[in-house]
Amino acid sequence: MDLSSSEKGKQLSGRLIRISRDRNYPVNDIENVLLPLFQPAHTEETLRVTIDSATHIWCAYENDQCLGCALASDIGSHRGLYVILFGVSQSAQGFGIGTRILTKMIKWCRKRRRPFIFLLTESHNERALRLYRKAGFQKHSPSSIYDEPLPDYGDGVIPLMLLI
Ligand SMILES: CC(C)(COP(=O)(O)OP(=O)(O)OC[C@H]1O[C@@H](n2cnc3c(N)ncnc32)[C@H](O)[C@@H]1OP(=O)(O)O)[C@@H](O)C(=O)NCCC(=O)NCCS
Repeated sequence: MDLSSSEKGKQLSGRLIRISRDRNYPVNDIENVLLPLFQPAHTEETLRVTIDSATHIWCAYENDQCLGCALASDIGSHRGLYVILFGVSQSAQGFGIGTRILTKMIKWCRKRRRPFIFLLTESHNERALRLYRKAGFQKHSPSSIYDEPLPDYGDGVIPLMLLI
């Protein structure tokens, strides 16, 4: 059955999903979520390197099952946050988990006076674009004081920034 996002949201209301930030989640938990979403661009090996490089990790757990993760690192002299990889397991998508992880990250940044969150998404990834735009992200035009440390990106990729 194909439920709309809001119908799925209602179904989720009885479930306890906990979002937390840590550096010590079991690597397998993160791999089980992100590898199926980002293959073949990522292999098990490159994903491990990316997980190791993340200085902040947020995960959504239901009981012992990890359903979503965001890997991020500090970026530049202004100490913005760069979201390297972000995903929710396919079977758990559309229930509001991505929105909750993102909200938690934004609150964390606000509390610590982090000036921005930066990320890259593919221009055809409408679901992700909608999620980010709803959260207030805007297409980044390279002209701000925060340009100096931002990663390069290729064609078909949209740089998005949320000023906190
Ligand atoms: C993008 C992603 C993280 C969103 O996570 P999610 O938990 O599914 O997102 P949410 O349930 O919070 O929904 C957020 C928005 O996404 C869109 N969305 C979610 N499920 C959708 C579906 N089945 N069909 C269309 N749009 C959908 C909606 O715009 C929704 O907003 P709404 O509340 O107005 O309906 C998830 O889809 C994912 O992991 N995708 C694959 C990996 C990826 O693309 N990561 C981002 C790379 S930058």
